[in-house]
Amino acid sequence: MLRLEKLVKTYRTGDQALKAVDLVVPEGQVLALIGPSGAGKSTLIRCINRLVEPTSGKVWLGDTELTHLSSGALRRERRQMGMIFQEYALVERLTVMENVLSGRLGYVGFWRSLTRKFPQSDVDEAFRLLDRVGLLAMADKRADELSGGQRQRVGICRALIQNPKLLLVDEPTASLDPKTSRQIMRLICELCAERGLAAIINIHDVALAQMFVQRVIGLRFGAVEFDGPPDALTPDVLTRIYGEEDWEATIRKVEDEDAEAAE
Ligand SMILES: Nc1ncnc2c1ncn2[C@@H]1O[C@H](COP(=O)(O)OP(=O)(O)O)[C@@H](O)[C@H]1O
Ligand SMILES: [Mg+2]
Repeated sequence: MLRLEKLVKTYRTGDQALKAVDLVVPEGQVLALIGPSGAGKSTLIRCINRLVEPTSGKVWLGDTELTHLSSGALRRERRQMGMIFQEYALVERLTVMENVLSGRLGYVGFWRSLTRKFPQSDVDEAFRLLDRVGLLAMADKRADELSGGQRQRVGICRALIQNPKLLLVDEPTASLDPKTSRQIMRLICELCAERGLAAIINIHDVALAQMFVQRVIGLRFGAVEFDGPPDALTPDVLTRIYGEEDWEATIRKVEDEDAEAAE
């Protein structure tokens, strides 16, 4: 459903953030994109919905090639791509409900969005989503009254109310404590499975990625260094992606967490 062909991004500073990345993501597949800071993870997902303009290469979403679309056509295609951010990107002074509904702005007309009059069907769907993520009671709270984990749940609802086919998720747990991180990763992956959504989840926590996804892409210096199942992330592979470190400790951590989950 998503296909990147020789995607290149060179920033004006001369930084080569992506060097001819080829990637195919089938419908409904959830994959983790790992790699050290500066590897190009954020650039890659932002080139997909053109928050960052690729320098060259192609992005296919289904039968549509995105890099040549006019702004109107791009806006329509972007509805199919929900985004979830590390810092949540909520509007602090708006309520939880209003933040979720803002995910519909790609659909409702401009005047309607100014007065924030959303169709009842959107409001109903927002309630359903908030209920699903355990935030129904919080609908009228202001975003700035929520904890980090709750904020990220709102961010997830805002992405899902767009009714996307693909989720682009940038370090969803980087601002959260370890337990909340695991809950949020589990929630995102469950929701993708329930709705048949594909997702690219940027995450630098290898152990967390290994716990929840079937496919891992390792990026290094803007190039794909690894593409395979989480089990194949051996210390050698991790050294190729990240450089020297004590990877046995990381892998042990995954085994401990598995044991903990089985208890
Ligand atoms: N707006 C920008 N202008 C110039 N260089 C950038 C910009 N954004 C990112 N870069 C550079 O591109 C490379 C990849 O960055 P990024 O995609 O943010 O990596 P990651 O998300 O894996 O940490 C880095 O070298 C970074 O410094
Ligand atoms: Mg990043």
